[in-house]
Amino acid sequence: MDRPKSRPMVSRVIPVELFDLVVFGATGDLAKRKILPALLRRFVAGQVPDGSRLIGAARSEHSVAEYRAFAEAALAEHAVGVGSAEQRKAFIETLDYVTVDATGEQGWAELAKKLVPGRIRAFYFSVAPRLFGALAERLHKYGMASGDARIVVEKPFGRDLATAEALNRDLAQHFAERQIYRIDHYLGKETVQNLMVIRFGNMLFEPLWNAQYVDHIQITVAETVGVGGRGDYYDRAGAMRDMVQNHLMQLLCLIAMEPPAKFEPDSVRDEKLKVIRALDPVEPSDIVRGQYLAEGEKPGYCDHVENPNSHTESFIAMKLHISNWRWAGTPFYLRTGKRLKSRTSEIAVVFKETPHSIFGPEAGRHRNILTIRLQPNEGIDLGVTIKEPGPGGMRLVDVPLDMTFSEALGPEAAQSADAYERLIMDVIRGNQTLFMRGDEVEAAWAWTDPIIGGWEARGEAPIAYESGSSGPEEALMLMHRDGRRWREIRT
Ligand code: BG6
Repeated sequence: MDRPKSRPMVSRVIPVELFDLVVFGATGDLAKRKILPALLRRFVAGQVPDGSRLIGAARSEHSVAEYRAFAEAALAEHAVGVGSAEQRKAFIETLDYVTVDATGEQGWAELAKKLVPGRIRAFYFSVAPRLFGALAERLHKYGMASGDARIVVEKPFGRDLATAEALNRDLAQHFAERQIYRIDHYLGKETVQNLMVIRFGNMLFEPLWNAQYVDHIQITVAETVGVGGRGDYYDRAGAMRDMVQNHLMQLLCLIAMEPPAKFEPDSVRDEKLKVIRALDPVEPSDIVRGQYLAEGEKPGYCDHVENPNSHTESFIAMKLHISNWRWAGTPFYLRTGKRLKSRTSEIAVVFKETPHSIFGPEAGRHRNILTIRLQPNEGIDLGVTIKEPGPGGMRLVDVPLDMTFSEALGPEAAQSADAYERLIMDVIRGNQTLFMRGDEVEAAWAWTDPIIGGWEARGEAPIAYESGSSGPEEALMLMHRDGRRWREIRT
């Protein structure tokens, strides 16, 4: 019997219990762009039980009707075409609002009264991290920090080890670790979770997934956007704090970790933590930092930030080593930057050459490359060496075994749920697998701090690179000097 070419994807909706979700910072950018649209999508998908509510909380004075109008406008912009007019109206009617002063007493008693006892309650801290402690304290003081309450906190979780430890301490005064959901939205991406399934759901790869067979691994997260209106924040962070310490670190952990015994929160997080703790310190000569230049009408990095001589990097490329049995000797190359050639995120596992070529020197040396494309055009691709068809002797050629998920699983696969949809629903379900544990975040800062400290101590300036390029030439050299090369950032 012929196998069907593709199997249409069937999405499943896992039922959740009735909940009250309180969003602090309900009029902010994240609420507008991500939280409200994500909840609307889950509502339309039928996952939000009747009677569940989103309660917006923020400092500004608004009536419930005004907040609903605000949400409607936000959804018109950021959730185009989601659901019917009736569904959108029904969703808007689930919204409530209360004016709350995070550091004062206004609004807290009113908020406490709004929560329905016995329901799941989650508090989303979509506010500046300096307010996290105050919010946790007041939730406790006003009797809302019940044993099954959950809090959700956004990045940046600290700006170094000391601030992350202080934040963890503040939250721990009122909430247990099992109640704290630290978001790294990369973990909510469909293809990022697929990394674990590709590795641990197939027999094919795992036996080869080690220093004996893998020459090196490269991770690229390239963006076309610049820092835009986020100059203030970004100039204090840079690519290292904004992307590497969290998102790229998570990708590295999932690619490098040992198989967890179970797909359960602490099993997975224990293994990730071991990877971070096994990272070697990085030599300054193994890091290249860049900053994008203006291009025509498009402003350069320094035009977006207050300090015209800023030394903050918008690009970083680095070589890392993980000192453990599996990976000793296999380098990991990481690269991320803004205003690059295209928006491309991928992980490439580059296998070693065969130990001996029976086809003679003219056949050339070939190697298999497994590429996991995270965005766009999600899929995996395995480069396999075959005989070039036709007469003319044994000539070898590399061809891709390409599995683009939208082709293999149907177009619905290409529109898989946004990371925030999955993560918010995981909070309601009480599943912490895709959230960072406190010790994980601290370990990542402990590795990052000396690197940033070194740049600061040496007063190191980043290298300028052309917008729309692949970053500074020096980043290419980082691999060339090892006899390797980056994969093209494809346009
Ligand atoms: C955010 C960073 O966490 O991730 C941004 O602060 C970055 O600077 C963004 O642009 C990238 O996320 P995504 O999902 O677009 O790859």
